[in-house]
Amino acid sequence: MTSELSPDLVIPEHIGIIMDGNGRWARERGLPRHEGHRQGTENLREVLQACGDFGIKYLTIYAFSTENWGRPKAEVNFLIRILETVIDRELRELHQKGVRLRHVGSSSGLPRQLQRKVQEAVELTKNNDSLILNVAFDYGGRAEIVRACQRIIEDGLEPEDVTEELFSQYLYTANQPDPDMIIRTGGDMRISNFLIWQAAYAEIYVANCYWPDFGREELKKAIASFNNRERRFGLVSEQLNGS
Ligand code: FPP
Repeated sequence: MTSELSPDLVIPEHIGIIMDGNGRWARERGLPRHEGHRQGTENLREVLQACGDFGIKYLTIYAFSTENWGRPKAEVNFLIRILETVIDRELRELHQKGVRLRHVGSSSGLPRQLQRKVQEAVELTKNNDSLILNVAFDYGGRAEIVRACQRIIEDGLEPEDVTEELFSQYLYTANQPDPDMIIRTGGDMRISNFLIWQAAYAEIYVANCYWPDFGREELKKAIASFNNRERRFGLVSEQLNGS
């Protein structure tokens, strides 16, 4: 399947996606917002398949932010139900395909039964490694950093022990590579509290289409764009090119 992409292309190892625009997608069709979320969930299947086919190893999806609790209650409940439905309906197939599911974020605001389902899904798939799917649900980058600080203090570490490497180990994404690229759909050029530590050197790609319309072809365009970037990590071009 990778033959769809030129063999010369560098495939990002870790992609983060801000799946934005479900509401606008629905509004433009005269549909209620939840139809946009429903279609966005369908689209996730296509994008997951494409990620697997293209050899992407880590995918982090921003499904529900700490700020999303402020949305109307019916929408919040709908999004929580989507998480449950995805686990109920898709877990078996994801597991068969070798997908490892991880939860990035807090689960304390979720119903107990769903907390258990999430834990069980994480446990069931923990030895899979074809694709690591981090589901950011009740996730915020600032909350993640505060939690890391609290845990470092609880562990009694001394100031001189706290390095960037150690700090990374206290984040939800411990032991995972930082994202190489953050994709945001829906046209807005913001990071919206997503992986704010981990995305320090990520390439940002903004797609103008809404999330339900961001399919395999759009992902290919994002990967092509990634290949046209020069990632300098604070150095100058000459250092990278060895001249
Ligand atoms: C942003 O669009 C999207 C969300 C807040 C939810 C994203 C969730 C999914 C795509 C479903 C998959 C979920 C799981 C749990 C696997 P928006 O509502 O902010 O759109 P708008 O900016 O057009 O209003």
